[in-house]
Amino acid sequence: MLSGKHILLIIGGGIAAYKSLELIRRLQDRGARVTPVLTKAGEEFVTPLSVSALAGAPVHRDLFDLTSEAEMGHIQLSRSADLVVVAPATADLMAKMAQGMANDLASTLLLATDTPVLLAPAMNVRMWQHPATQRNLAQLIADGIQLVGPNEGGMACGEFGPGRLAEPEQILTAIEAQFEAGPLAGKRILVTSGPTHEPIDPVRYIANRSSGTQGTALARALRSLGAQVVFITGPASVRPPEGVEVVPVETAREMEAAVRAALPADAAVFAAAVADWRVTSASDKKLKKTQGGIPTLSFAENPDILKTVSALPEGRPGLVVGFAAETNDVIENATAKRLRKGCDWIVANDVSPATGIMGGAENAVTLITEEGAESWPKMGKDAVAQALAKKIATVLTSRNTAS
Ligand code: C5P
Repeated sequence: MLSGKHILLIIGGGIAAYKSLELIRRLQDRGARVTPVLTKAGEEFVTPLSVSALAGAPVHRDLFDLTSEAEMGHIQLSRSADLVVVAPATADLMAKMAQGMANDLASTLLLATDTPVLLAPAMNVRMWQHPATQRNLAQLIADGIQLVGPNEGGMACGEFGPGRLAEPEQILTAIEAQFEAGPLAGKRILVTSGPTHEPIDPVRYIANRSSGTQGTALARALRSLGAQVVFITGPASVRPPEGVEVVPVETAREMEAAVRAALPADAAVFAAAVADWRVTSASDKKLKKTQGGIPTLSFAENPDILKTVSALPEGRPGLVVGFAAETNDVIENATAKRLRKGCDWIVANDVSPATGIMGGAENAVTLITEEGAESWPKMGKDAVAQALAKKIATVLTSRNTAS
């Protein structure tokens, strides 16, 4: 499975570093070649001798190691591998990566590399939950870094919670997943997700109840089929998926600009709950109670991104998918919407409060295409996303074979 693959394994300083020895052995069992890098802190937990003996290769430890600079510079080292794996990835290494620091060999390699990076974080539970680590994590995800773990459980320090290094088997599976070419490999797909926020003044805005769960699940499902996903998201309450390019926006107009900037694409899925209207001349100062009584807001229509993209004379994605959140006559309304918007498919769902779909974990959708309506049973939003991603893959790959 991994034969011929070259893994640059960076071992950070943590009690879990001993598991990286097992990881090296298992990677080699599967035919991978491992080049190990040990941080100074890592050396406190595993010895360079045991790492290099297991890897069957010298361990790189120092940025200014002249011998290895002469044989192979750190830039070349960072790019020689098919995948960079950091296990354990400590809070310190993650902070350096998020900040773009390069003050030792590991951080320099991580900044210089142009190959995909997979992090297996491990640290004390409080360190993992600290807002600083969570900020760094969000930044790393936005930068397209992949993650495996951390797991939840008892820790060496006696505390319990998330922060345990993923088991070597889990890390191996995540590594193998990096090399699986899914049916959507080479396809670029845009996904919009989440609500938009339309400002009233600098502290107030108009929003909606969309959590971004369905759009996030879709982006994740498309990514796992190998697509290159550009994920354009309003201020959602769920974390963006890993391994996609995240473009955060607030307003409908920002979302439209981001979508246009991200084109061309093979497909575009518009799962965002975009506000239909924005407040005209939103105040740049906070509206005060004393300013002449109750303020009156006036509204202007927002751009309809789905309709605009569907009608693009040039650069229209080959497949354009919209969503329709309806509270009554779902199929009729959604069928009419597909024609009105000019998109290829509409994923319609009943969001009347009794269904609990908006903001909930499940979804019951009807897929409206040129051929008609196809109702799917109620299932988790992840399952809906996977089924939809598969359908998208079928269409895009059949076009490939046809051309
Ligand atoms: O018209 P309605 O809001 O019901 O349409 C829903 C579909 O249109 C969704 O796919 C949504 O992402 C998209 N949409 C859009 N821009 C808007 C409004 C909706 O892209 N301004």
